Amino acid sequence: MKELHKLIPWVIILLLSYGAGSISCDGNDTDLASLLDFKRAISNDPMEALSSWNTTVHFCLWEGVACSTMRPGRVVVTLSLIGRDLAGKISPSLRNMSYLVSLNLSSNKLSGQIPPLLGNLHNLKILDLRDNTLQGNIPDALTNCSSLIALDLSRNLLIGEIPRKVGLLSAMSYFRLNGNGLTGTIPPGLGNITTLQNIFLHENQLHGSIPGELGKLPNMLNLLLGVNRLSGRIPEALFNISSLQQLAMPVNMLHGPLPSGTGDFLPNLTRLLLSSNMLEGQIPDSLGNASELQRLALGNELTGQIPTSLEHAGGSYLSTSGDVYSFGVVLLEILTGKMPTDSLFCNGLNIVNFVERNFPDQILDMVDAYLLESSQEYSRANPKEENRVFRCLLALVKLALSCTHRALMIDLT
Ligand SMILES: *[C@@H]1O[C@H](CO)[C@@H](O)[C@H](O)[C@H]1NC(C)=O
Ligand SMILES: *[C@@H]1O[C@H](CO)[C@@H](O)[C@H](O)[C@H]1NC(C)=O
Ligand SMILES: *[C@@H]1O[C@H](CO)[C@@H](O)[C@H](O)[C@H]1NC(C)=O
Ligand SMILES: *[C@@H]1O[C@H](CO)[C@@H](O)[C@H](O)[C@H]1NC(C)=O
Ligand SMILES: *[C@@H]1O[C@H](CO)[C@@H](O)[C@H](O)[C@H]1NC(C)=O
Ligand SMILES: *[C@@H]1O[C@H](CO)[C@@H](O)[C@H](O)[C@H]1NC(C)=O
Ligand SMILES: *[C@@H]1O[C@H](CO)[C@@H](O)[C@H](O)[C@H]1NC(C)=O
Ligand SMILES: *[C@@H]1O[C@H](CO)[C@@H](O)[C@H](O)[C@H]1NC(C)=O
Ligand SMILES: *[C@@H]1O[C@H](CO)[C@@H](O)[C@H](O)[C@H]1NC(C)=O
Repeated sequence: MKELHKLIPWVIILLLSYGAGSISCDGNDTDLASLLDFKRAISNDPMEALSSWNTTVHFCLWEGVACSTMRPGRVVVTLSLIGRDLAGKISPSLRNMSYLVSLNLSSNKLSGQIPPLLGNLHNLKILDLRDNTLQGNIPDALTNCSSLIALDLSRNLLIGEIPRKVGLLSAMSYFRLNGNGLTGTIPPGLGNITTLQNIFLHENQLHGSIPGELGKLPNMLNLLLGVNRLSGRIPEALFNISSLQQLAMPVNMLHGPLPSGTGDFLPNLTRLLLSSNMLEGQIPDSLGNASELQRLALGNELTGQIPTSLEHAGGSYLSTSGDVYSFGVVLLEILTGKMPTDSLFCNGLNIVNFVERNFPDQILDMVDAYLLESSQEYSRANPKEENRVFRCLLALVKLALSCTHRALMIDLT
């Protein structure tokens, strides 16, 4: 017994050191180093989102970080910092966080390129970098993130082509690249991803024809391709995707007639937007078979009648002219005094996202100098009206933006 008593201090020391050891080992050093690199690459953090990111606190407790307890040694599975106004670059060191499942940095002010090394994240299911100011190309290496379910890079300043091998992302359901300056054609390989439900490629500069392969996607819900430079005919197979809810490709250069069976196999279609193209021929009677249709914008050289079954659809909004987008753009041109061809609009910036990015705080900086001067003259003469003049300008810009949004249904998720 005495011998045992002598052992007790040793046991305590052992327990303590084991405890201490498990505290330092409890968590992966690689993850810690990557997170610290991430923080170092952030140049401005006005909302102090990363103020909890110091080593006196375990990194699993840092804001935006979530760890998995399923593995020995906790590993980071989520990094999510949304709408925190973070400026700076995305550190390539994130590629070392091999267990990362979700990376969501949407609605910040991140700039620079998307690090190609993120292609190493084989467990990544969600990559959301929307609403930042990221530049350069979409790295081909991202097609190595084979677990991706949702890829959202929308509303950045990305240029170049959509990676040709995007079809390798065989689990993807949500694919969103709208509101960039992407060029090139739509990769036919997308037609191989049978899990796809949402393809949002509107507001880019994509050209060429719409690949017929997209008609092979049996689970599609929303296919939005508006405001590009797409040409050729709309593949007939698209009208055979019976799961479709929204099909929108206004403001392109699509031509040819609509297939006679256009509405026959689209029982769930609520929106069909095709205005501002060069479509011609008869409005097909079969459209009347798309009984859920709530919004229809044709507005081309199409002739004939909207099927009567649609005209009587309760509360639905039907329009054959609906060139709302172009109206919004013209209004923006007038308000800013700039043409879409202005040299300012390059590297993914166009008149619409230029105004959006400056709305509402810097609105006076972008209003046409002549317009501004005359409204200031008016305010000087009528000092009580000054606020009203500003509010009026703001309302006009808002109207123009809402036209561009409405035509594209950006109000929808
Ligand atoms: C570390 O973060 C914690 C939690 O936010 C905070 O209370 C502490 O003051 C920070 N320590 C240092 C050294 O910044
Ligand atoms: C990733 O980890 C490796 C080895 O652990 C290290 O050499 C490298 O600097 C880390 N960062 C990047 C960006 O690879
Ligand atoms: C830490 O994670 C890296 C990959 O993220 C892995 O290679 C390494 O074995 C892990 N270390 C520990 C101690 O779990
Ligand atoms: C990223 O986070 C935002 C805010 O929580 C959420 O709305 C969005 O759906 C997330 N992105 C993805 C692709 O899940
Ligand atoms: C993708 O991964 C493969 C092997 O897994 C590698 O050989 C290739 O270089 C990677 N591609 C890119 C573009 O990083
Ligand atoms: C689609 O998948 C098939 C079969 O795996 C393959 O042969 C074809 O090359 C893929 N198409 C594209 C455009 O990637
Ligand atoms: C669309 O479906 C109909 C009926 O199943 C079929 O006759 C037609 O060939 C299909 N069209 C295309 C382009 O797949
Ligand atoms: C249409 O929508 C309903 C209700 O959401 C769904 O049950 C049905 O499977 C859909 N039809 C097709 C063809 O996808
Ligand atoms: C579709 O509409 C046409 C013309 O209105 C009608 O003749 C046809 O039977 C309808 N087809 C289906 C599948 O409901």
